Amino acid sequence: MATYGKHLKAARTKANLQIKDVTEQLNITKQTLINYESSKTEVPFGRLEQMAELYEVTIDELTKGEKVAAKIFSFINRKGGVGKTTLCNLLAVAFAQLEDLRILVIDTDSQKSTMQLADEGVHRNIDVQFIDFDSNMPISDLLDMLEENMYQFDYIFIDVMGSFSHAEATATIMFKSDYVIIPLEASDLAMGATFQTLGMLPEIADKRSRRNQSFTPIGIHNKSSHTKESRSVSDLNGMMGLKLLKNRLSNRVRYKRRMSFKELPFTFEEEDEFLALVEEIKIILDNG
Ligand SMILES: Nc1ncnc2c1ncn2[C@@H]1O[C@H](COP(=O)(O)OP(=O)(O)O)[C@@H](O)[C@H]1O
Ligand SMILES: [Mg+2]
Repeated sequence: MATYGKHLKAARTKANLQIKDVTEQLNITKQTLINYESSKTEVPFGRLEQMAELYEVTIDELTKGEKVAAKIFSFINRKGGVGKTTLCNLLAVAFAQLEDLRILVIDTDSQKSTMQLADEGVHRNIDVQFIDFDSNMPISDLLDMLEENMYQFDYIFIDVMGSFSHAEATATIMFKSDYVIIPLEASDLAMGATFQTLGMLPEIADKRSRRNQSFTPIGIHNKSSHTKESRSVSDLNGMMGLKLLKNRLSNRVRYKRRMSFKELPFTFEEEDEFLALVEEIKIILDNG
């Protein structure tokens, strides 16, 4: 016997909504809702989406009563200026806008730019929160924040500050992450610091695997150009367990000028390289 109805009802009650509230909002009759909630009629997918939004739950939770924990992505590289924040923001908007996923972006960098971007407007599927790494308890604050939001979002993106003084915090964040995104920029200076980041990967992977948790470090060649150094970035594939994406982002200033948390700053027709990158990430996520 179908049981989705009782989950629908449970989700409505939890959201503190009366039958009348829902029928008015969704423009359906009372009988229709009762039929849904007693599993008598199937709910069309479009309607499920509306209900999920109204009840503020995921569709899985709505139909199976299941709470699925968010996947945690951290954007890490000890080197500043390689594109952590840029990739974090662009990918958050991409998954929110194109996949309709709910994303929490946690900014640990106290960088004014992210705050300003958030002030300018945020996509309805995105929430932006800040952690003050100059406070006395940044890591426990962050862990609390993850705990509180684990079931409210599909993905949690953590933009991790590059500074050396927080190496231990960085390791803790990595340990919490299902996916670590490492932007790679081809220059001697960037590579030196990147190796320090890569060196942390095996221990984290090992620790997580002992807890049956997967761990996928993804390298993205950012600001790629036609230089000799740029070609050497591909040698990093497989190193320390790093999965280097085939697709890269070229060195184009466009990202900065039009970045926004509200919508992608370009259409996919104009931005093939970013589309290809997102598609490649999606394949990795689907397989893991
Ligand atoms: N693919 C790219 N092409 C051109 N400029 C980029 C690209 N990615 C990032 N940038 C620029 O490089 C600078 C540093 O990027 P940012 O994301 O702030 O790095 P991080 O967070 O690692 O310090 C920013 O001005 C950003 O706009
Ligand atoms: Mg940054």
